[in-house]
Amino acid sequence: MVRAPIIDAHGHLTFGGCDVVSLAEQFGTPLMLLDEQAVRQRCQEYRQALESRLPSVRVLYAGKAFLCKGMCRIIDAEGLSLDVVSGGELATAVAAGFPMNRVWFHGNNKSEAELRAGIAHRIARFVIDSTDEIERLDALATEAGVRVDVQIRVTPGIKPSTHSYIQTGQIDSKFGFSVGNGLALDAVRRVQAAPSLCLRGIHCHIGSQIHEIASYGAEVAALVDFLVLVKDSVGWVPEELNLGGGLGIAYLPHDQPPTVDAYASLLACALHEHWPRLGGPLPVVMVEPGRSIVGEAGITVYAIDTVKDIPGVRIYASVDGGMTDNMRVALYQARYHGILANRAAERPTQKVSIAGKCCETGDMIAWDLALPPVRRGDLLAVFSTGAYHYAMASNYNRLPRLPVVLVSGGEARLLIRRETYEDVLALDEMPSHL
Ligand code: LLP
Repeated sequence: MVRAPIIDAHGHLTFGGCDVVSLAEQFGTPLMLLDEQAVRQRCQEYRQALESRLPSVRVLYAGKAFLCKGMCRIIDAEGLSLDVVSGGELATAVAAGFPMNRVWFHGNNKSEAELRAGIAHRIARFVIDSTDEIERLDALATEAGVRVDVQIRVTPGIKPSTHSYIQTGQIDSKFGFSVGNGLALDAVRRVQAAPSLCLRGIHCHIGSQIHEIASYGAEVAALVDFLVLVKDSVGWVPEELNLGGGLGIAYLPHDQPPTVDAYASLLACALHEHWPRLGGPLPVVMVEPGRSIVGEAGITVYAIDTVKDIPGVRIYASVDGGMTDNMRVALYQARYHGILANRAAERPTQKVSIAGKCCETGDMIAWDLALPPVRRGDLLAVFSTGAYHYAMASNYNRLPRLPVVLVSGGEARLLIRRETYEDVLALDEMPSHL
């Protein structure tokens, strides 16, 4: 469930112990707030739930969900490792002083420069995604005179029920080697033959925003089927099994995502059931949650500016952000819940659809929210915006990106400052003939 809002005596929404209305005055709108304790608690829940059930576990935070230097520090302090997918995410971890021996490098098209950076920083693992990458990484590691540890990403042909754009375990995917047609086995052989690569394990990520955790049981079963084939063919059993991320969260009040505990229990049961077919001890088990660490820990606060009532059709309230800070409505038809932060205790009496300020019909934040009569100057808080919001933000229409403020125990601290017009203009050059 979306957490019940905490409302103070003035009828203001509070978040992380702070009055959201005061924060909007102090930092301006639109504004993203991240609840530090909620993030830390989720990190601890993941570790506790898995470490209590399996002999050897590593929880990696998927930085693509939301990353900045401060976030790296929190992840480090909570003892999680980090999954990066680009040179930019790696550079963020380096700048934050994140331990490189806890960094995993993913991506279906890592550039030569990115591979070199990973080698130079001695990151923990490269997760190999293609035959090209096997050759490229082996050559670069040989050139650097080092041996690098790798996992191979495989696609077992599992389609969890989620939006098709965020399904990743199927055979027809740009990610990984499919197990059904021999490509994954071939990748194992190639990596084993590569002099500068050391094969540590197998990786699989079936998709994102998954509510049916049975898909993870199917994932484990399918991976063990594949690994039995690998063992029979080449005599190799992985010491590491990386099961990816994907646990869903609540966006709407009635959403009931699985708990981390239920997810961990299912994974542990599936491993205890299937792994014995391979013989030997359980592997080091890894998971890579992103959304379920930060998603519900974030809210976005907007000011309502223009209210337009089309009689008998719809009331539109336009806010000072939009698809520049929330791409998910346009991209995945995602649905959100929100309330007025400045009149949080008032009874909803009407349905209002929240539009962004970009020049695009699809630029919507929420459809048919139940709200009290909205007025210019009201503040709207939208829930569950911590993951894949700031991370996917843009400067469309030359809008500056919003700031991110970390709230904790009544204190508010800037994590990312608001962009200025100077920032937006900073990359423009003026060709001399213009
Ligand atoms: N590991 C790998 C290899 C991944 O590709 C992903 C997400 C994760 C872990 C983390 O998954 P999570 O726990 O966050 O579901 N922009 C989309 C989500 C894209 C997910 C991409 N990969 C959205 O806003 O729904």
